[in-house]
Amino acid sequence: MIDRIQAFSEEIFPEVVRLRRAIHRNPELAFEEYETARLVAETLRPLGLDVRTGVARTGVVATLTGGRPGPTVALRADIDALPIFEANDFDFVSKNPGKMHACGHDAHTASLLGAAMILARVRDEVSGTVRFLFQPSEEKIPGGAKTMIAEGALGGSGGTPGAAAVFGQHVRPDLRAGKIGVRAGMFMASADEVYVTVRGEGGHAAAPHEIAADAVLVAAHVVVALQSVVSRNCPPDVPSVLSFGRVAAEGAANVLPVSARLEGTFRAMDERWRFRAHELIRRVAAHTARAFGAEADVEIVAGYPALFNDPEAAAFVREAAVAYAGAEHVVDVDLWFAGEDFAYYLREAPGCFYVLGVGNPEAGITHGLHTPRFTVDEDALRLAPGFMAYLAWRRGVAG
Ligand code: NI
Repeated sequence: MIDRIQAFSEEIFPEVVRLRRAIHRNPELAFEEYETARLVAETLRPLGLDVRTGVARTGVVATLTGGRPGPTVALRADIDALPIFEANDFDFVSKNPGKMHACGHDAHTASLLGAAMILARVRDEVSGTVRFLFQPSEEKIPGGAKTMIAEGALGGSGGTPGAAAVFGQHVRPDLRAGKIGVRAGMFMASADEVYVTVRGEGGHAAAPHEIAADAVLVAAHVVVALQSVVSRNCPPDVPSVLSFGRVAAEGAANVLPVSARLEGTFRAMDERWRFRAHELIRRVAAHTARAFGAEADVEIVAGYPALFNDPEAAAFVREAAVAYAGAEHVVDVDLWFAGEDFAYYLREAPGCFYVLGVGNPEAGITHGLHTPRFTVDEDALRLAPGFMAYLAWRRGVAG
């Protein structure tokens, strides 16, 4: 089966590249992916798949029923772009100013379409059902995954069982094109936004003794005190980060402002620690401010949960990758402190989120995700669709 899938993957490669470029040229932001969704549905329908549009507003769910009995396996791609002005100069650059596929979701979408084309050709030998999830809004909280799940993306229907496994991939420019990276267990972080407003009293900067509390000084103490949350309260085996990237106080050289605001991000690889940390952040900020005669209001905007790859599913992906691409192309990857709403699918079904190398230093393809010159080495699209198809086929056979 590997030889056949590889041959099909090679055959459809030009079409997959064409699709990736078409999507790249027309990036659409979270929950506005109407034309992308239309392209996805138009590509899938001739393959004889059952295609549902309008899932989670702009998502598409397609179902392929195999010729043999077996489990349901879900494959996911995210389809949205980012609010970034593209700085590339190839002939398929974004035609939508201020919008760009700078996170490779164009490649994810084209790969999954390619996987559907391949599996449609070997449908009679597919055991079970393959569910293709084209998800809107990965880039913007609250994300599309939760709604996709709520609207039945992983559930059973008719005689079809619910998903027994779910797989997804993300491109990585720091990994060479042609490589597949896998990590079992803890993989990606929860990503929450932390906003602290310190309320003191405004006044003349020459007379701080005449006001109740200097909000700027208190905010500085709050930043320092909050560092103890990670360094002193976080279990040493749980990776976690708290950073403040914005400090704003609208006073002047000789004016103490009424308030000061801190904006930061809190990331963690463990959900229990995550919510304990939220409590500590609130407590430490509030009490530190009070010690200086000020008040602190803390708002934490919860982002995506930490992403945990099922160890068995990760081992399965690893074995499949070695079989499909060769051991020399399969690598272990480190923890990744980005957030991903694929984490929600992994709460519903065992699965694995793996990474696809798209970098090529010799060709200058090294720009990071979410940067204006990001792109992918399209050679990776020879591997990605076939590997996804193989993964689904092999998981079906495993029962
Ligand atoms: Ni992404």
